[in-house]
Amino acid sequence: MVKYETIVVVCATKEETMEQFVIKGGSPLNGRVDISGAKNAALAIIAAAIMTDDTVTIDNLPDVRDIRVMLGALEDIGASVSMVDKHTARINGSHINALSVDYEYIKKIRASYYLLGALLGKYKKAEVALPGGCAIGSRPIDLHIKGFKALGATVDTGYGLISARATELVGSHIYLDKVSVGATINILMAAALAEGKTVIENAAKEPHVVDVANFLNSMGANIRGAGTDVIRIVGVPSLHGTEYSVIPDQIEAGTFMFAAAATGGDVTVCNVIPKHLEATTAKLLEAGCEILEYDDAVRVVATDRKLFPTQVTTLPYPGFPTDMQPQMTVVLGLAEGTSTVTESIFENRFKYVGELARMGASIKVESNIAIITGVEKYTGARVSAPDLRAGAALVIAGLAADGITVVDDIYFIQRGYEDFEVKLRGLGATIEKLDDDREVQKFILKVS
Ligand code: EPU
Repeated sequence: MVKYETIVVVCATKEETMEQFVIKGGSPLNGRVDISGAKNAALAIIAAAIMTDDTVTIDNLPDVRDIRVMLGALEDIGASVSMVDKHTARINGSHINALSVDYEYIKKIRASYYLLGALLGKYKKAEVALPGGCAIGSRPIDLHIKGFKALGATVDTGYGLISARATELVGSHIYLDKVSVGATINILMAAALAEGKTVIENAAKEPHVVDVANFLNSMGANIRGAGTDVIRIVGVPSLHGTEYSVIPDQIEAGTFMFAAAATGGDVTVCNVIPKHLEATTAKLLEAGCEILEYDDAVRVVATDRKLFPTQVTTLPYPGFPTDMQPQMTVVLGLAEGTSTVTESIFENRFKYVGELARMGASIKVESNIAIITGVEKYTGARVSAPDLRAGAALVIAGLAADGITVVDDIYFIQRGYEDFEVKLRGLGATIEKLDDDREVQKFILKVS
């Protein structure tokens, strides 16, 4: 088999950290855009792929930095990884030679902690650098630990590490005090290879939880109820190889839907599962957009329509996703009247509001509520992406704004959006990825 490329990218290079998106806003987005595979499903599925000694082929992986980092983490512990093409990886975990995942990986993607559940399930022993907080909140992992302990593992934290080991893992009844995607998936993986039956109550119901369960089942696991709040797992002695295609990314799809709404455009997001987008669709309807649903596509029509204010609260699925909160706020910032957006999942997810204010938005944040008074238009400015989703939201604001917007720190955006600027250009946007001031000046002269 041809090895497509070696997995090398682990951190943002100096050149990448210099990169900016330069946007000439003010034109509606129009057309069709293909949505990539779901980053957050793919991260867990890649980790779970090492749970068998057989080869696993995973298709529809998004070509984004976080995925490359996760594949690098697998190679680092001895798994063999080869790319069949840029969206398909072949993984073999039969030669794992280290049960310890380095801080370098955890620092770059928290989701490397999925290797804890995967390695603990398969080898009954794992050690992963302890993830800290991140730009959006403190993000504890107490529920992951509670789950592993309930399965009979001894879990120690200290010296910046989390270590889990067990003579054997035994199925258990686990109630999650808070709905957590990460804890649900990590426990799911360990329990898949435990002795006997595990019940996870108050489990996360996100589409990527279901996708990970489907993936494990395709490897011979016995998991029922994923997508409801009670998941039942009957442990099996071993898993086998599989070929699997990751679901479409509902957050990427929603981001383009909000971009259509903010720019007064007409965009069809293709290769999506419309059911996964229901919360987004509902809020865009309330905001005055027309939505047309097809089997595997959703069209947002916002031409000649004024935007209306509404109230939004982020909640676990099927509620409105926290990962879509900044994009929704950008749209409501252009609605006629006052809206509120309440963030109930992460404590620090309004950091972008100050940047948006530099573009003319009128938003006051009180505790976990943003009170948004709609303005007629945004105005272009130089802003910085504070994290992945907020970065994408600032790009949307730039596309809707009068004049030129420069978004710095776009490596955050590149963590999770495949070819973001290329896809936006396909919808008629004037946006370039540039890394030097002279190029930026040239672009501005050209488009002014
Ligand atoms: N929580 C705890 N204890 C735990 C685990 C979570 O208190 O042990 C709390 C968190 O602090 C938070 C809530 O539970 O308040 C939900 O957190 P969750 O565990 O569901 O989040 P996560 O698994 O760390 C995933 C996504 C995030 C997304 C959240 C919520 C991945 C790799 N990440 O994080 O995605 O925001 O679920 O849907 O799947 C992104 O893609 O930009 C992103 C941040």
